[in-house]
Amino acid sequence: MKISQIEKALKTDGKKERIRGWVYRIRKMSGKVFIVVRDVTGIMQCVVADEKLIPKAENITFESSLEVEGTVKKDERAPGGAEMQVTDIKVHQIAERFPITKDQSTEFLMDVRHLSLRKRDMTAILKIRSTALFALHEYIRSQGYYEVDPPMLSGAASEGGAEVFELDYFDTKAYLTQSWQFYAENLIHAVEKVYGMNPAFRAEKSNTNRHVTEFWMFEVEAAWADLEEMIKISEGCLCHVAKKILEKNKPELEVLGLDPKKLEKIKAPFPRITYKEAIEILHKNGSKIPYGVDFGAAEEKMLAADYEIPLIVTNYPSEIMAFYKKDNEEDPKVSNNFNMLAPNVGEILDSSEREPDIEKIKSKLKKAGKNLNEVDWYLDSRRYGSVPHAGFGLGVARMLQWMLERDHIRDVIPFPRFPNRVKP
Ligand code: 4AD
Ligand code: MG
Repeated sequence: MKISQIEKALKTDGKKERIRGWVYRIRKMSGKVFIVVRDVTGIMQCVVADEKLIPKAENITFESSLEVEGTVKKDERAPGGAEMQVTDIKVHQIAERFPITKDQSTEFLMDVRHLSLRKRDMTAILKIRSTALFALHEYIRSQGYYEVDPPMLSGAASEGGAEVFELDYFDTKAYLTQSWQFYAENLIHAVEKVYGMNPAFRAEKSNTNRHVTEFWMFEVEAAWADLEEMIKISEGCLCHVAKKILEKNKPELEVLGLDPKKLEKIKAPFPRITYKEAIEILHKNGSKIPYGVDFGAAEEKMLAADYEIPLIVTNYPSEIMAFYKKDNEEDPKVSNNFNMLAPNVGEILDSSEREPDIEKIKSKLKKAGKNLNEVDWYLDSRRYGSVPHAGFGLGVARMLQWMLERDHIRDVIPFPRFPNRVKP
């Protein structure tokens, strides 16, 4: 008999169905065995009452894999609103004693992540994550951007020296990419509007609820674009992600106990303030951070706390910005950049116009103590047909951490990597 997914089987009444999956719950009561089976679409209670099947059913353990067949009947009390009276069971494997029981520590659950990700909330998150990734591709392509894959191995530690993973590459050194930006700034001379969805690696020993050493970054770069354009495109991306999650993942939001109304509120334009205004707000709230210092998690969360959608903070002091960010024409002390700060998470997206002038960028590089030889190939983008351009990087996990109201970034990543964890 044809296999149905549980979601569909639950909708039938009085007919035979065959489903397959894993044992989500099993208990024996008054001569019957109640097996709750889960597949990717949901859970269904299957009641074994047939004497011939009972011995087989009694053998089945939590997380065993199986197929069950029987008549489905509507039943308000059953999970999903229907129940199966089982007439056939085919066991694929009787699971060994599952190591996860109730009330185990987070560290233990991370040790067995390959097993703990079977939990229903994690399944829901993985499905939403898939929707979100696809939505980002879909939206940015609709805006005329080309997907380009940058290398993950790089010959020079370009962005932040201390935070780069170094590895032996035959008889020389290579580095894991921290961002595709240097490649993108050259690619725009070929295809003008480019994007990538790539892993980024940071050898940071930050043990916080929003840092991982490996994360997926959605990066966008466009020739002829300015900050306004990047604000518009990045807002568009987040609004589209929210719209698609609402369209495709209402049941998953319910599993996670999330109110869809919150996602409905993600609409452009997002609120906007300058770094200077942000400092004033922080001071009013009792913070002592001096002007000219970059925000940490505490400041970012304080600023974002008044909003339900991300806050755009523009024009940070040039001095504390990366060398490639372009200074504001009217006030060169500030940069033409912005960060998006999301409630409870802080920075989720980092964007700027890039300095197109070779002399200006060289002088900034020198000031930052960078080795000009190492980035010489990158500077060719400024030597041969330099153009105004801008781009951004969005941390996919941080975006999801905010949208799905998770306390910790590990909750939205299947196999998160931290300074003290690269397994399983
Ligand atoms: O702010 P970052 O470091 O910016 C760049 O790398 C730029 N070159 C991007 C660009 O313009 N193409 O990183 C961008 C985003 C951050 O806003 C944050 O959301 C995320 O990447 N991010 C991290 N997410 C998780 N763990 C970490 N350790 C992260 N570091 C950055
Ligand atoms: Mg940043």
